[in-house]
Amino acid sequence: MAVQGVALVPLVFVVVAATGCCLAASSAIAMDRIPIRTISPADDVSPVKADLGRRLFTDRRFSDAGDVACVDCHDPMQGGADGRPTFRGTGGAVGDVNTPTVYNAAYNLAQGWIGRAETLRDQIDDHLADPRVFGTDWDALLDRLGGDPAIDGAFVAAYGNGPTRATATDALETYLRSLVTTGSPFDRFLGGDPTAISEDARAGYALFRAYGCAACHQGANLGGNLYQVLGVIRDYFADRSHDPAPADLGRYDMTGDARDRHLFRVPGLRRAASTAPYFHDGSIATLEEAIQVMAVYQLGRHLDGDQIRQIAAFLRSLEPD
Ligand code: HEC
Ligand code: HEC
Repeated sequence: MAVQGVALVPLVFVVVAATGCCLAASSAIAMDRIPIRTISPADDVSPVKADLGRRLFTDRRFSDAGDVACVDCHDPMQGGADGRPTFRGTGGAVGDVNTPTVYNAAYNLAQGWIGRAETLRDQIDDHLADPRVFGTDWDALLDRLGGDPAIDGAFVAAYGNGPTRATATDALETYLRSLVTTGSPFDRFLGGDPTAISEDARAGYALFRAYGCAACHQGANLGGNLYQVLGVIRDYFADRSHDPAPADLGRYDMTGDARDRHLFRVPGLRRAASTAPYFHDGSIATLEEAIQVMAVYQLGRHLDGDQIRQIAAFLRSLEPD
């Protein structure tokens, strides 16, 4: 495989062009040293608490109107997302961003496209109060849950008392921490079985490292641990067909720091193959298009059909069996 021997990428290019960037390198990095690792399950997940969390995750009493549960946006059958360009919340409210997957979220340095929530519990609190998501508050929610003997009994079994804000949050958080996509073909490949993934996927993995995708999408979750600009090499927003929106500002929206314009958390890619459409704006319909957009706007490179197919095969090998 020709690309296998290409150990260095022009990472300088990326580092210089990206603002607010967290890459450690000041010069080119040997790509093989950029860690892409096997993902392992959280070791302290209580099955009773995770089960209760799973139950809460599907409970529509989370919304005042009783019309939306976590699972409506983060559906395990849709890779932990919703398959829509942007989310739909209580009362049919239309969201401004695409729904990210909840799988492997525990590995993120912060939650949401711009890291607005520092922790999983902050993300839950944000969602509860957000009028476009649940539009409720803890007192109202606990009133609704506390009146249900089945739910009350499940809380007593897991925590020794009925639902409180602390125990409901803990149960949901435990469930979220249990959502780790271990056991993918790619993990078996990393574990030493070269036949676990197809030849295309192996070639795609080599391209992913050689071209510098792995400079941003790295670690156990192939992302989630850095903030990077969308449009490092070329202006994604100028080329896009629809008008700029506040959500395009990226972390600038939170920090007000001009260097954070268009800065987004690099998403983990382990469920990317099943969570179309893509990007914070949900404007890219297919995995193949997303790969080309990344190559052009982040790396200044135009991929041919074979290269795209191979990288797509690699990304598909990250999906759990
Ligand atoms: C109406 C749709 C909707 C519902 C309902 C919803 N979410 Fe979300 N979720 C989103 C969106 C959109 C984001 C991204 C938010 C952002 O970027 O700030 C998100 C982000 C997250 C994240 C962070 C994922 C990541 O990669 O950044 C977690 C974890 C999460 N939600 C858990 C939950 C839980 C738990 C519930 C139920 C208590 C829930 N969500 C209900 C739409 C929803
Ligand atoms: C300079 C950093 C950087 C590089 C290099 C990079 N990416 Fe990304 N990638 C990002 C960021 C940031 C996002 C999120 C952008 C957004 O949503 O607005 C992203 C999003 C994606 C997505 C969409 C994920 C989703 O859930 O919507 C895919 C797929 C992806 N990248 C694949 C790749 C591939 C393949 C390469 C190499 C050809 C690559 N990336 C190179 C930073 C990078």
